[in-house]
Amino acid sequence: MPTKTHYRLPNSLRMGLLVAGLVGLLIGALAWFQVERERAADLEEMDRRAYVLTHQMAYSVQAALQLPDREAAAALSSSLEGYPPLLGLAVYRPDGHLLVAGKAVQEYTADLDKVVARALKEQKDITESTLTDQGRVYILASAIRAADGQPQGVLVVIQDMAQVDERVVSRRVRFGFWVSVVTLLLLTLVVTGAWLLYDRPLKRMTEWVRQLRGDDDEPELEPPAARLANENDRLANSLRTARSTQRAPAVPQTDRGWTRERLHTHIADHLHGRRLLVLSNREPYLHELQDGKTLLRTPAGGLVTALDPVLRASGGVWIAHGAGSADRMTADDQGRLAVPPDNPTYTLRRVWLSREEERGYYHGFANEGLWPLCHLAHERPVFRASNWEHYLRVNQRFAAAALEEVGTDPAVVLVQDYHLALVPRLLKDARPDLAVGLFWHIPWPNPEAFRICPWRAELLHGLLGADLIGFHLQQYCNNFLDTADRMTEARLDWDRLTVRSHDHVSRVRPFPIGVQPWSERQAPSGIRLAHQIDELRERYSLDGVRVAVGIDRIDYTKGLPERFRAVARFLEHYPRYRGQFTLVQLSTPSRTYLRRYRDHLNELESLVDTINWRFQTAAWKPIRFLVGDQDSATIHAFMRLAEIGIVSSLHDGMNLVAKEFVAARADLDGVLILSEFAGAARELSDALIFNPYDVDQFAETIQRALEMPPDERRERMKRMRRHVEEHNIYRWAADFLEALTADPDPASSTPDAA
Ligand code: G6P
Repeated sequence: MPTKTHYRLPNSLRMGLLVAGLVGLLIGALAWFQVERERAADLEEMDRRAYVLTHQMAYSVQAALQLPDREAAAALSSSLEGYPPLLGLAVYRPDGHLLVAGKAVQEYTADLDKVVARALKEQKDITESTLTDQGRVYILASAIRAADGQPQGVLVVIQDMAQVDERVVSRRVRFGFWVSVVTLLLLTLVVTGAWLLYDRPLKRMTEWVRQLRGDDDEPELEPPAARLANENDRLANSLRTARSTQRAPAVPQTDRGWTRERLHTHIADHLHGRRLLVLSNREPYLHELQDGKTLLRTPAGGLVTALDPVLRASGGVWIAHGAGSADRMTADDQGRLAVPPDNPTYTLRRVWLSREEERGYYHGFANEGLWPLCHLAHERPVFRASNWEHYLRVNQRFAAAALEEVGTDPAVVLVQDYHLALVPRLLKDARPDLAVGLFWHIPWPNPEAFRICPWRAELLHGLLGADLIGFHLQQYCNNFLDTADRMTEARLDWDRLTVRSHDHVSRVRPFPIGVQPWSERQAPSGIRLAHQIDELRERYSLDGVRVAVGIDRIDYTKGLPERFRAVARFLEHYPRYRGQFTLVQLSTPSRTYLRRYRDHLNELESLVDTINWRFQTAAWKPIRFLVGDQDSATIHAFMRLAEIGIVSSLHDGMNLVAKEFVAARADLDGVLILSEFAGAARELSDALIFNPYDVDQFAETIQRALEMPPDERRERMKRMRRHVEEHNIYRWAADFLEALTADPDPASSTPDAA
């Protein structure tokens, strides 16, 4: 609907009018008062003169009034004339008839008669200013009395007020002129001052904000004041965030139907015969050699847990680093094998790396550099040129493997995570027709944090080769767009969330990842689950104990020391729970080649020892720290055994354990305690959200979870489960693929449009 635009006076003009108007009114009032005072003084002077005259004349008039009319008139007539402003005098008999009057006075006799009648009636002197046909006159009618007080007549003095009135008019004109001059001067001063100091900066700010909001293609204005640069940046960011959040593609709220089968059909519809490739560093199935036998392992970590069900549904090729000691033995000459081994549905293509390559690319650049760079967990990133060389080379190896897999066929390629940031550009340079998407599974930091990476430009260049770049949260998209905006020549379109560089458009979108339903994972249920739980209780001395569970890779971003300290603080504050509550911490060692990770594991073990030693009894320990791989059935059983699931990440892209815990609680029980710094906290608002750096708050949250009424637990869990079921992993994959294979926004792909 068209909106009416109302014209509004500029603020500076309104302010000027107000100030000048008020001051003008004040001076005007003072001027008016002054004119009136001077007029009163003029009248007083007239009054005085009239009285003086009546006194001077009183004697002779009294004498004349003794005579008959004719003689009296003759005696007085010569002394009744006057000079301006005195018009003259007149004498009346006590019965009110005119005895004699000066010549000029005769024109006013009708007016004089009335005043004389009043003076006679009220027996006192009357002064009056009257408007007559000839103009305004001043009249004094003074009674003449005999010595005994008897009225003898009335002496009237009449003066012309023309001069007094003229003086009033001329004073008014003069004052009016000066009041207008002063008011106008003031108006000019105030309007100019207000425009310079207030209106103009505000106007520029408004225009700048409008351009930032995206009403224009490209903001042309500089931020309004250099001094405010930081504030402007923050404002710009929040506006962009608000705008892009508002314009982020709407997600239907009640779509519960994403299954493996539906994804399968959906992918077939969208691929149009193209091949599907997934690239990641971590492989979904890893073979280890143990005691001369090959063992199959499924590595820990959100990425493979999430993507394996997708590939099972879609088929295709997954290219990953063959990191297991028996990987070569279990793959063919090209490093290929069909997986899952028990029921193959897709191909795993392993890329072989030398020890140096693995060290430089994976341990070095990816995990000592990019991982701490992107997670704000106060770990200093390390960047070495030799690691970068390996990173570049390994990315080329992955791209080459992908190009080999697709041959000349059309294909859709899904590149995963921070290990392979350069792959999108490498692929697109070789095969511009490929649809290449990249999903970044960890947070993207703000530009200030990212800029410390010496190879930031190369990384951004590599990533911007992708047609679609996905993050878990809109906030990471915004950080990425901001980074690209500041550190590349690329042109940003905040409306369409696109980045144009080298005539290629990358779309940037949030796709919050989900989990596979537990019902598909052969996790025991019913009586089998109950038995398994009993067994676990017995094995870990948990009988009659209320349990919280944590499941994490051993990583300094997961907030494990904070978690253990919070358990200790909780037992300090609530001693009644000693012997009654245990945290079971399932932890898989990770990246142990890196010293920081080994140290972290040692630190955790010694912290657990200290806390257990302090509180434990013969039959009970506050923390069970179980280090090693756990199969998914055991993880599921622990999630059902526990009353509380704890996720205390200091920073986490999403954290799928939180969603897995909710998905496991088919009994609608259990409370999730979730760090506010995990991406999942944006979606699971029915969890107890807390700050893991605040140990007291953390301890109180444990207590609150343990004492939450069953109804509340149930309601919260129901709502979270609905969300997790609706936004499962199939839907995530479907949304990403749909966005990648959809026709790009025509406006954004036309070179001149951006
Ligand atoms: C995170 C990363 C994944 C990685 C996983 C496990 O979730 O986003 O890319 O696979 O951690 O780490 P790892 O180094 O063992 O593969």
